[in-house]
Amino acid sequence: MNKQEVILCNELEKDLLGAIKSKPYDKLFILTDEHTTLHCLPVINELLLKNNAISIAIPAGDLNKNIETLAHVWTQLSQKGATRHSLLINLGGGMTTDLGGFAAATFKRGIRYINIPTTLLAMVDASVGGKTGINFNGLKNEVGAFAPASSVLIETDFLKTLDQENFFSGYAEMLKHGLISNTEHWAELLNFPTDKLDYAKLKVLVGKSVQIKEDIVEKDPYEQGIRKALNLGHTVGHAFESFSFEKNCPVLHGYAVAWGVVCELYLSSVKTGFPTDKLRQTVQFIKENYGCFDIDCNCYDKLYAYMLHDKKNTAGIINFTLLKEVGDICIDQSATKEEIFDMFDFYRECMGL
Ligand code: GLY
Repeated sequence: MNKQEVILCNELEKDLLGAIKSKPYDKLFILTDEHTTLHCLPVINELLLKNNAISIAIPAGDLNKNIETLAHVWTQLSQKGATRHSLLINLGGGMTTDLGGFAAATFKRGIRYINIPTTLLAMVDASVGGKTGINFNGLKNEVGAFAPASSVLIETDFLKTLDQENFFSGYAEMLKHGLISNTEHWAELLNFPTDKLDYAKLKVLVGKSVQIKEDIVEKDPYEQGIRKALNLGHTVGHAFESFSFEKNCPVLHGYAVAWGVVCELYLSSVKTGFPTDKLRQTVQFIKENYGCFDIDCNCYDKLYAYMLHDKKNTAGIINFTLLKEVGDICIDQSATKEEIFDMFDFYRECMGL
């Protein structure tokens, strides 16, 4: 996979101009959703106008990350004269960077694209690492491709207008990066005051978080081995997320991941010896900042069924990434149904359910 350039911007316009001009192209396209058209596009609009960028707009929200929206982007590219040498800029959250990335990866068998993530989740996770795709037949990210952006431009000033829920959703992926990296980074994330954000400090933390992901993706771009570390919290997290959609009370991805982390760190403490004091401290942080996802023992079979359908599994065995310690990763771990049900008991007990 081509290495992507990830820039923590000091001057977005200057960095974007550099990224656009780094290779020749014929036409420039800018993809925005209904929110970023209003709130983020103005920041770069002058530069885009000077470079004759052609706009494509899509509706916001994960429900629109589908084949119809993708077809709309392909149609717009085609009707507005895009060629194999055109360049697409995706300006938005994970939905826009995933779908726009996939549109770019497939249009005329692939055109170059640049990501400008505008949410914390997209900055530290979705826009980095080359995973692109759409939801299909009710399944999340069911169709997609590994296709890295040529550049990812991270402008943390966009975070100043992010709502609290979306801040915490992204912060869960940062916490995951802390857990799979080192104790110092994990501890600074737990101690970062989240009630009154220091944006300069947040920018430093975002930079560290992105670096952790980049290092892993560089070693294993196609998730054959160590990239599975990034799945910590996601085996249970995806089950919570799907269940929340089924119950018609959808939760944000990062919230589901945070509750998944509670479960999978417990499993780590039982199966791979993760220290109980670090389990307790992480659970405390999540409980305080994320509240809890309400389950009772009648939900266990349903959650287990969701986990059995996870695309990370092989031969029907549920695949977990567990930890021996902060930064000491054990990929390709399994657990029995009984161990998984015990894990749900622990989750309910520590969340006071
Ligand atoms: N979001 C996990 C990964 O990029 O591998």
